[in-house]
Amino acid sequence: MQTNERDKAIGVFDSGIGGLTVVREIMRNIPNERIIYFGDTARLPYGSKSKDTVIGFSRQIVRFLQEQDVKAIVIACNTASAFALDTLQEEIDIPIIGVVKPGAKVACEATRNGRIGVIATKGTIGSGLYGNLIRRTLPNAKVFGQPCPLFVPLVEEGWRKDPITREVAQRYLVDLKENDIDTLILGCTHYPLLRSLVGELMGPQVTLVNPAYETALQLRNLLQEQGIASQEKPEGETPYKFFVSDAVESFKDFANSILPIDIARAQKVDIESY
Ligand code: DGL
Repeated sequence: MQTNERDKAIGVFDSGIGGLTVVREIMRNIPNERIIYFGDTARLPYGSKSKDTVIGFSRQIVRFLQEQDVKAIVIACNTASAFALDTLQEEIDIPIIGVVKPGAKVACEATRNGRIGVIATKGTIGSGLYGNLIRRTLPNAKVFGQPCPLFVPLVEEGWRKDPITREVAQRYLVDLKENDIDTLILGCTHYPLLRSLVGELMGPQVTLVNPAYETALQLRNLLQEQGIASQEKPEGETPYKFFVSDAVESFKDFANSILPIDIARAQKVDIESY
């Protein structure tokens, strides 16, 4: 492997801003890596769209990221991971990982009673992928899925601590509480931002799993195994670049509220042309 391959960026993409929770973990756990992020802010939400549509959108984003010459790609969106990862893995020749497999792995390690809840978009729950992956490791596990579609707009509106969000969460979580789960996967990129509320409502006996952290660790291992991990902290111009398909300013504000760095700019891309 040429040395300059190691210096290339990791491409990370999501339907919008939620994937920044994954970027945050990559920045914390693999600080040597450059990142090029794409948020499809013009076409979100993905969670209510069909598999074919999400695969089509994901293909365009992957083409854009490959044009940026990234060395590996992280699908930082549960819905796109559930619908498009297998297809994209067959179509491109650089490593690509999603967030669903890492999340399922951690849940299998965390559960003691084999009763696992998943909260996610309608698309991710409908795909059944979390349950299928969990049962490959724990064949007798009981997996309870609950779509929580209102969480995404509530987080984007900045209403994380609002009483309305609490009331919505109480309604969504009531069945999961009755099912005696001991582990709950936050299976949508926005939900780690509601972690304290969900944790409070579910109670201390339920372990919350954020797939973003394990995804960053799996990415680090993958880069090392393939000999393409960056050897030193990148210097000079900013190691992090952000692109979106719309709403540049609100993306920047949100990014600056959750990332450990301040981003000075994000660029708009005509993703439909890819
Ligand atoms: N990023 C999506 C996910 O993790 C949530 C937002 C959307 O529906 O586009 O599934």
